[in-house]
Amino acid sequence: MSVENKFQSQKFYVTTPIYYPTAKPHLGSLYSTLLADVAARWHKLLGAQVFFLTGTDEHGQKIAQAAEKAGVSPQQFVDNLVGEYTSMWHKYELAYTRFIRTTDSDHVQAVQLWLQKLIDRNLIYKANYTGYYCTPCETFITDLAYVKSQDIELVLCSTCQRPTSYLAEENYFFRLSNYQAKLLDFYAQNPNFIVPKERLNEVIKFVESGLRDLCLSRSTVTWGIKFPGDNKHVTYVWADALNNYISGVGYGNSNKTKEFDFWWPADLHVMGKDIVRFHAVYWPAFLLASDLPLPKQLLVHGWLKVNDQKMSKSLSNTIDPEELLNNYGADPVRYYLVSQMAITRDSEFSIVDLEQKISSDLANDLGNLLNRTVQLAVQNNCVKIPVITNWSESSQKLRSSLLEILDTYAQYMHDNYYYLALAELWKLIKLTNAFFHTQAPWVLAKTDCNKFIEILSAVCHVLRTVAILSWPVLPTKSQQLLQRLGHELALDLKPNNSKNLILELKNNHWDLDFNLQAGEPLFTRYDQNLKIKVTEKTNMSVENINQGNINNYIGIEDLTKIELVVGTIINCEAIEKSDKLYKLQVDCGAYGTRQILSGIKQYFAPADLLNRQALFVLNLKPRQMLGLESQGMMLLAKDAENNLQRMAPIAPVPNGTRLA
Ligand code: MSP
Repeated sequence: MSVENKFQSQKFYVTTPIYYPTAKPHLGSLYSTLLADVAARWHKLLGAQVFFLTGTDEHGQKIAQAAEKAGVSPQQFVDNLVGEYTSMWHKYELAYTRFIRTTDSDHVQAVQLWLQKLIDRNLIYKANYTGYYCTPCETFITDLAYVKSQDIELVLCSTCQRPTSYLAEENYFFRLSNYQAKLLDFYAQNPNFIVPKERLNEVIKFVESGLRDLCLSRSTVTWGIKFPGDNKHVTYVWADALNNYISGVGYGNSNKTKEFDFWWPADLHVMGKDIVRFHAVYWPAFLLASDLPLPKQLLVHGWLKVNDQKMSKSLSNTIDPEELLNNYGADPVRYYLVSQMAITRDSEFSIVDLEQKISSDLANDLGNLLNRTVQLAVQNNCVKIPVITNWSESSQKLRSSLLEILDTYAQYMHDNYYYLALAELWKLIKLTNAFFHTQAPWVLAKTDCNKFIEILSAVCHVLRTVAILSWPVLPTKSQQLLQRLGHELALDLKPNNSKNLILELKNNHWDLDFNLQAGEPLFTRYDQNLKIKVTEKTNMSVENINQGNINNYIGIEDLTKIELVVGTIINCEAIEKSDKLYKLQVDCGAYGTRQILSGIKQYFAPADLLNRQALFVLNLKPRQMLGLESQGMMLLAKDAENNLQRMAPIAPVPNGTRLA
């Protein structure tokens, strides 16, 4: 039986744009690299040999000016900053194969060799350039946007909207105009060259409107790669930079011919929408001119915006990835960026949104499913779940849904729509939460032990699948999740001996055993609503106090009499004879497990309470209700409409922690 493309990959070469190291990396630069990392990891799961190239673009006027401002040489300037990129990439687990710098000697040699080839082929000539130049974009301006400010006509760059400078200099030109027909033919033959497809139409329009020859050198800039045969010129920074994609895998190095032939052409170049023209027009033309195969695909993403403006160093509205990392950890930020920023368009970045996404998707949907499963197994002494041979109809249905979702997930990953793939994976998690809820294993534990174990096994099989499929985005948490199931990621990355874990998942018949391990929750909840509500309530009380409404003050000695403790609800059962009461079992740490009866049935489903922390008064006199003893009280916040909110610490604390 033949295996569809989306399920196989032998070799995968992916690149990121190389970054101008004018400042520390910001979240926008991290985003391009993250998408490439996700693609690289997906192909590793498919068993492919993977090369992931990223790096820094260190020559040109922009860097020279920044160095001058800093009062150091350009080389010193870039040397000082490049470590910020490599260390940030490590912190975010961006597992590149090579970090290339355009000042690396093998790159410099490759660029000169490539230029010489073009000179030998008579594809380069000397002429004068007069026109505008955008230094922030390092672009010779072909289309202009004019604005009039105080009677002065300013020429703005149409990409970044910043003022350009007028340039009159002698340059070497590349005969780009020779390639118009060839490029149009290439686009027609390769309709999937750009993802998303719509961007290809913009490129086609640009090429159809006519291509002018392109400057390949600068004679008024000195910080760059010397132009072969003419020391007065340095290579134009984009001609230098684009060639990193071939020099990074051995082009121009006689010891690396085999390596280069193996990796080139690139399978995927990842980039932001502002630099498509360089990659979709100039780069293919450069390659055609030197008889090299063209890259297979470009993945073009939108911008991260803050208050509807592009996040950029020059607008000083950048978000520091380090700060996010310290507050939320690498995996949750990676998850937010990949799942919430649709590559097809610009996306607004917001901390509130980030916290909500982490809380709802990671802590609630995924984290709780794991916690509930493990805790039930621990409570019922069956952490070792054996292989199941007889699956009930409902478990088989869950498995069929998993296979369907796996298929769609693989298609989205293959097409580079990672955010849609994640949405698909979360469908599976939600479905499994519903399965857990309807199968009620906490009841089965008492009534039907075999079915209980079968249900836990089904959930564990799903969780293992989720762990493997989420590895590209959650490289650490997914492995912790697997460990909690008693498994590990069997990624054999040795050349020619790699396993295709995705095919294994597809062909797996749910015949695995599990050894569940208890542990800390994998993810933290950031309960925005709760925080906001608490603030609103505090304001209300402040108002009341100001109006002098509190006249029954108590002393601190009264307060210390109350044993207010944090506990986790480990079981929640409805009491049949009552339409209000739940019987809760609460793990109160050193205070033991308490049975607490609470009249909250109409406000919460058991799933809203299970494995959640709440605040309890433990030294209330025990009370009998419907023949059962209640050994404490759960604290709840009640608003004017009688809506109830559970009270809990903002981040989990050990059970039994007292409120001080
Ligand atoms: N040096 C060139 C690329 C040469 S590739 C042969 C360059 N560097 S850059 O540092 O200005 O930008 C690098 C990448 O970061 C681009 O893909 C750009 O789109 C991306 N981003 C910069 N700011 C961004 C956002 N606010 N949002 C998303 N990506 C953004 O261009």
